[in-house]
Amino acid sequence: GHLRHLVAGNWKMNGLKASTDVLDAVIKGHDAVLAARADLMVCPPATLLAAFAARAGGSTVAVGAQDCHAAAAGAFTGDIAAEMIADAGGKAVIVGHSERRTLHGESDADVRAKAEAAWRAGLFPIVCVGETRAERDAGHALAIVARQIAGSLPDSLPGDLVVAYEPVWAIGTGLTPTVADVAEMHGAIRRQLVERYGGAGQAVRLLYGGSVKPSNAAELMAIADVNGALVGGASLVADDFLAIAKAC
Ligand code: G3H
Repeated sequence: GHLRHLVAGNWKMNGLKASTDVLDAVIKGHDAVLAARADLMVCPPATLLAAFAARAGGSTVAVGAQDCHAAAAGAFTGDIAAEMIADAGGKAVIVGHSERRTLHGESDADVRAKAEAAWRAGLFPIVCVGETRAERDAGHALAIVARQIAGSLPDSLPGDLVVAYEPVWAIGTGLTPTVADVAEMHGAIRRQLVERYGGAGQAVRLLYGGSVKPSNAAELMAIADVNGALVGGASLVADDFLAIAKAC
């Protein structure tokens, strides 16, 4: 069946209180013309999470976080629990982004524990996977992503799941895979999820991420088994983010 698209903006380590005007413009644009087209989510840095969730409350724009710790509480200086994200008004959390996997050494097992924490707290996880340039050039992209999916997800799904396919070499570079390569990867991920979870695997939204812009969004969002986008740089500009949602 048709899955409603989700367009999620990952602000990464960008945004101050003054950036609230970007959120306001996204809310206004979505509420005004786009509410029927796609679900919108903004994932600001943790410092802005509660304020953004309060501001977006009652609108059609949801707010999510960029990472969580696997534990519910404890001596983990600098970390944030999924329960805290829920308490702040977040609805989802990105886990296993390539910047976390690479810069913070997160393994598939770590990502799986974080996804389980998200469900425990009543959030849904956006689990990120994707191959490096060297892995694609070696012909290993499908196998690498299959292994990440297998290791980063639990044996049964306790709640809603979103998976984001982000080729590492496409993040922030202006490069994107071909339509055929995205279709092949998303089809393979869908088959793997259905094999593992049955019908529940059909309901998992599969986002594409990596240099999604207004100029390429329509082509990418029309691909079979692409059910939305995870947007980095372009999500910091309200008009660009809304244009991507409009392309769904
Ligand atoms: O989470 C978002 C991705 O890393 C994509 O970032 O749109 O700036 O390439 P980008």
